[in-house]
Amino acid sequence: MLLKASFAVLCALSLLNWTNGFSYEGYKVYEIVAHDMTEVHFLRELEKQDGLDFIKKAHHLDDPNDIVVAPKDQENFEKILKGNGLEYKIIVQNVEEIMEAERKATIKPFIGLGHVTFRSYMFHHEMNAYLRRVAAQYPNIATLEHFGTSYEGREMLLIRVSSGPSSNPDVPKPTIFIDAGIHAREWIAPPAALYIIQQLVENPENAALYENVDWAIIPCLNPDGYQYTQEEDRWWRKTRSINANSTCIGTDGNRNFDYYWMHLGASNSPCSDIFAGPEAFSEPETAALRDWFLTNNANNVVKLYITFHSYGSMLLYPWGYDRIVPDDEEDLLQLGNLVAEAIYNANTLRSEYIVNTSALALYEAAGGSDDWVKAVGGVDLSYTIELPYGDSPLPFMNPAYQILPTVQETWAGIIAFHDFIEE
Ligand code: ARG
Ligand code: ZN
Repeated sequence: MLLKASFAVLCALSLLNWTNGFSYEGYKVYEIVAHDMTEVHFLRELEKQDGLDFIKKAHHLDDPNDIVVAPKDQENFEKILKGNGLEYKIIVQNVEEIMEAERKATIKPFIGLGHVTFRSYMFHHEMNAYLRRVAAQYPNIATLEHFGTSYEGREMLLIRVSSGPSSNPDVPKPTIFIDAGIHAREWIAPPAALYIIQQLVENPENAALYENVDWAIIPCLNPDGYQYTQEEDRWWRKTRSINANSTCIGTDGNRNFDYYWMHLGASNSPCSDIFAGPEAFSEPETAALRDWFLTNNANNVVKLYITFHSYGSMLLYPWGYDRIVPDDEEDLLQLGNLVAEAIYNANTLRSEYIVNTSALALYEAAGGSDDWVKAVGGVDLSYTIELPYGDSPLPFMNPAYQILPTVQETWAGIIAFHDFIEE
């Protein structure tokens, strides 16, 4: 009882003092444009360096790269750029000012445990409480699974939505698997998953969507990192595991899967934001996803895998590890185009999605969950959805008022996915 009361007080306090411990005071954002391949390669090497965060990466020559640099590194950074003949522009003089503005605009209302909201960003424990509440309220269609335990001990819950087993045991129902939030700072991703859960479980109009198709959804794949972005460092991306022989924390979960691990676009330096980990599946969170597929998908019932990220308004399919297209790219592209159209036609944010392999649309990045799920996990149709970032001044900072229109248009895309899988 006492424990419960003091916990409530603690929560209230953290709501009142919703500030980040880590300050971006004096951090600058540099914009750099590469004009030839030498410069592109130079920037790629730069990205593997410690302490430089590429919040925007060029997809083509002459596109801008935006890099966040700490005050103590700025002088050296500018020297290196000049030494290599690269021009730069400083587009943000003080990142902390933008963080400050976001904190003011994103009022965190007390929503009450067990509820969900799309008007502000929830804490991880609030997401879990919501999942527990709907599973308790709708036991005939919603069940919880213990998906795993994060490095810092947070419970990772997966919700299954199903109307029951197939009437023909020889033909099991197809499952759609959805995860979100492997990258901590991509705050718009968990609400996209939560909205799908809410629409399926709590909106009776959508009952047909779990008639012939089962759903398995995990709204927060990196709860430690997520909590850290809420309390300490808004732009934290990785997990929060301690690295041997380094003071730098965390691994990039989406470089940690064991398919062409460390092949391209990943770093072996623990201080890098794209650190692939000391070995593949070093993180309990990525190992949990692997184990889920190895136990639950031996019979290939999962027909569609979706992982939510931000940003970019992109429907990406494998491969990500290199600029190679899969044999079934036509299927992936066709379905992707269908979904992109549905999202646009939802008419809430009217995002225009690009559909392509992730290495071609973005950059090579090996060790992603999408590649592993397709190659090893047994799911042909595997997508990374890069959600849009709306009117935010900088990436990952989707304004709270745009959560709802964003998740609504995304939901329209999910329905299109479902209709295809059902057929
Ligand atoms: N923005 C994502 C990342 O950098 C894209 C992942 C796409 N998938 C991939 N296997 N590279 O992790
Ligand atoms: Zn991401």
